[in-house]
Amino acid sequence: MSQAHLIAASILSADFAKLREQIEEAQNGGADWIHIDVMDGHFVPNLTMGPVVVEACRRCTDLPLDVHLMVVEPDALLKPFAEAGASSLTVHVEACTQLYRTLEKIRDLGIRPGVALNPATPAYSVTEVLSLVDTILVMTTNPGYSGQAFMPGMLEKVRELDSLRSERSSSALLEVDGGINSATAPLAVRAGADVFVSASAVFKHPNGIRSGLTALRQALGEVMSA
Ligand code: DX5
Ligand code: ZN
Repeated sequence: MSQAHLIAASILSADFAKLREQIEEAQNGGADWIHIDVMDGHFVPNLTMGPVVVEACRRCTDLPLDVHLMVVEPDALLKPFAEAGASSLTVHVEACTQLYRTLEKIRDLGIRPGVALNPATPAYSVTEVLSLVDTILVMTTNPGYSGQAFMPGMLEKVRELDSLRSERSSSALLEVDGGINSATAPLAVRAGADVFVSASAVFKHPNGIRSGLTALRQALGEVMSA
């Protein structure tokens, strides 16, 4: 697939006492999407943000809001997140008993549907829904926290999904999420990824958000010109 590479800055590592400033800095520094990690304390041990935060982010930026739902029962939350201003809603294959229906519901709400896979979930589990999604998110760490180490074993899954989408003529974007930084992003590019979610490498970069984004962009560019 030859699409532009997109950086989705995950606010999970942002300073919430100055969220507007941090989002504006990410936008000005070249982030393509703002990634919002919703965790319910059940699907993952952590508890994070709900629709009110998405609504607040919507007032801070024009960038697409990429909402990643790490929750056990996403269906009841789709409409509130859509009304709050989400641009895309990604649900976990492991959390949806009626995945087809859930993805159709997202599309009907006028939002871009995405499906996410935990590290233990094989690529083929999304074969039947490829035609319904705009993004396929591969977790490259265990979901729940930012700042964890990238799992290189997930690269094979990215490669498999890249082949699968070609076979099925799917134009879904392949998104990698977890441990993405300037060292790991090039590996994911070579495996076929298009969207790079990053929290700590952006918001916790020692020289600031702009430097974090620049370092990532350079790493992506270097692969392209290699
Ligand atoms: C983790 C979240 C990720 C997280 C990534 O469960 O889905 O989006 O924010 O954080 P980093 O980039 O620090 O691994
Ligand atoms: Zn995420």
